[in-house]
Amino acid sequence: PLTTTAELVLGARAAGTAVAAFNIITLEHVEAVVAGAESAGAPVVLQVSENAVAYRLGRLLPLARAAAVAAERADVPVALHLDHVQSDLLLHQAADAGFSSVMYDGSRLPYLDNLAATRTAVDRAHARGLWIEAELGEIGGKGAHAPGARTDPVEARAFVADSGVDALAVAIGSVHAMTTRTAALDHQLLRRLRAALDVPLVLHGSSGVPDDELTAAVAGGIAKVNVGTALNQAMTAAIRAHLTAHPDAVDTRTYLGAGREAMARTVERIVTRVGLSPA
Ligand code: G3H
Ligand code: ZN
Repeated sequence: PLTTTAELVLGARAAGTAVAAFNIITLEHVEAVVAGAESAGAPVVLQVSENAVAYRLGRLLPLARAAAVAAERADVPVALHLDHVQSDLLLHQAADAGFSSVMYDGSRLPYLDNLAATRTAVDRAHARGLWIEAELGEIGGKGAHAPGARTDPVEARAFVADSGVDALAVAIGSVHAMTTRTAALDHQLLRRLRAALDVPLVLHGSSGVPDDELTAAVAGGIAKVNVGTALNQAMTAAIRAHLTAHPDAVDTRTYLGAGREAMARTVERIVTRVGLSPA
């Protein structure tokens, strides 16, 4: 059934686990994420980034509607989240399109500009009943997931208090779009952030984080784990393998189906990993 991101994240946090949130681009992504979560018997978040909307010819609704119907029919709770949003228009459309939450991304901005823009986004989101996540980059607008970026706990505490955000994406060593699972997280910094902040913490760029690091991050207080690239890697590898083995293939279902199956297995693995209760 369709549920809210807040319910899944707060539920996971209370249980000492995390909910995985996967970026969806095609209908195959939607089907794979739901199937993988169902196999694992765990809830999941379907998230659509502003970049994905651009790829969908600038239209949010077709993919959002498909995701909402898939969520309603799923055997596990599924929430819809709008990811890395910078446009007011998208923020405005989110609630009507079935999203219960948004991530406003002002991390490219200098601190005070990020704070002001996030605060405006928080007011707009809350006025529409949306739960809102934000991201704190480094001073100078480097972005929170550039290599070497780290979130400062003291600054983060002030940012959360002054902006009113419901969740915060923190920079602790993961980097967006990694294609190897080699990120090393700063667990000591995560502990300090956890102690300094009351809101749930979100890990972005989780495709590059090894399984044991993910487990440690969840134990350290990460309650939402964002994954994008890992699904695209799985899909692309499976399609490439299928087309190499079947150079005369014509029916799109043969290779897209292989891609979907590979994504579902990736989802099942990650959802199981982050949803494990502490022993
Ligand atoms: O917001 C989405 C995530 O941060 C995805 O990052 O593609 O590196 O897994 P990733
Ligand atoms: Zn991200």
